[in-house]
Amino acid sequence: MNTILEETKLLQPRKAVLAMPEYHPPLAGRDALRLDFNENTFSPSPSVLRKLQQLTAEALTIYPEREPIERIVAQHFGVESEQLLLTNGVDEAIHLVACTFLEEGDEALICTPTFFMYDVSIGLMTAGLIRVQSDDSLSFPLERFLAAITSKTRLIIVASPNNPTGATVSRSDLLAIAEAAPQALLMVDEAYFHFHGETTLGDVGTVPNLIVARTFSKAYGLANLRVGMLAGDARLISFIRKVSSPYNVNGVALAVLPDAIADEAYLTWYVDQVHTGRERIFHALKDLGVRTWPSAANFVLMDIGPKHRELCVAMRKRGVLLRDRSADPGCEGYVRITVGIEDHVTRGIAALKESLLEIGWTPAEGRGRA
Ligand SMILES: Cc1ncc(COP(=O)(O)O)c(C=O)c1O
Repeated sequence: MNTILEETKLLQPRKAVLAMPEYHPPLAGRDALRLDFNENTFSPSPSVLRKLQQLTAEALTIYPEREPIERIVAQHFGVESEQLLLTNGVDEAIHLVACTFLEEGDEALICTPTFFMYDVSIGLMTAGLIRVQSDDSLSFPLERFLAAITSKTRLIIVASPNNPTGATVSRSDLLAIAEAAPQALLMVDEAYFHFHGETTLGDVGTVPNLIVARTFSKAYGLANLRVGMLAGDARLISFIRKVSSPYNVNGVALAVLPDAIADEAYLTWYVDQVHTGRERIFHALKDLGVRTWPSAANFVLMDIGPKHRELCVAMRKRGVLLRDRSADPGCEGYVRITVGIEDHVTRGIAALKESLLEIGWTPAEGRGRA
């Protein structure tokens, strides 16, 4: 018995797991104004809430059936059902893509800074992750990115708009990347598509090595239900479908998804709120002397400098959460603020003004360092 226990204690995971970076987003104590995770800050469509109230107790006892909802979602987005897979958020989509296509020794290509889950899922499959660092402009390093493609490149992930920078990559540049790497899969992560408007979804099927990821966590306000999608060439999607659990998306998410996508008026309203709020935040930060970067997403990155942590603490004291991005490569001193609905933006700006004053921040601490 003791020997078995001793051996169990010594049990080790795969080497790739030991080497994997850990991702622990600060989820505790978020009972405040959530300007930290780029979620919808308000609510999903009212029709989603109505559907939730109609769910029966029995509905919860049944294994979820993904296919009928996949058909509805595929039709809505103008692709064939075989070209679409619903996933447990884009997080799972990234994981599935990495598990389906990467062997140890393969290379995968991303730019940095970018969404951290790419590191986690790719690191599980191969040590060949190549990161191409953006310069101080935080724009996408296209030339160096293209130059980093090799015959071993099997997976390329590009978020447009990118997180945490808000930078975009044009459709034509994305197609150029896909063309430059026919031996690789290009996954375009369009988690923040709605706040930008440009998409490569229309190229699905024509560009054989393209897969587009979309989430329902952001503009649609369904982050808690964990649902996203992958759209791409039917053959590629069929391999990913093989790897996914048939029950990866829960039945509550599946039940409300048709209502969420059908309510385009609500989506347009929310996106308008974010567009207006984003301009207000840019103006306020400019007046305060805070350096920012252009953003096509529902967040703005700001250069606070050495007092980045103090600012987050001062904001939290005022009931507003920000996300400190200082640990991201090339982002020392940078803090991200999510753009929400009008009232939330007003409260965020007021708290920012007070907090910067409280910590004795001066523009020289941010912009001056660059
Ligand atoms: C670029 C990007 N992709 C994917 C995700 C995760 O989306 P989901 O909630 O669908 O897992 C995020 C979340 O912040 C993100 O920033």
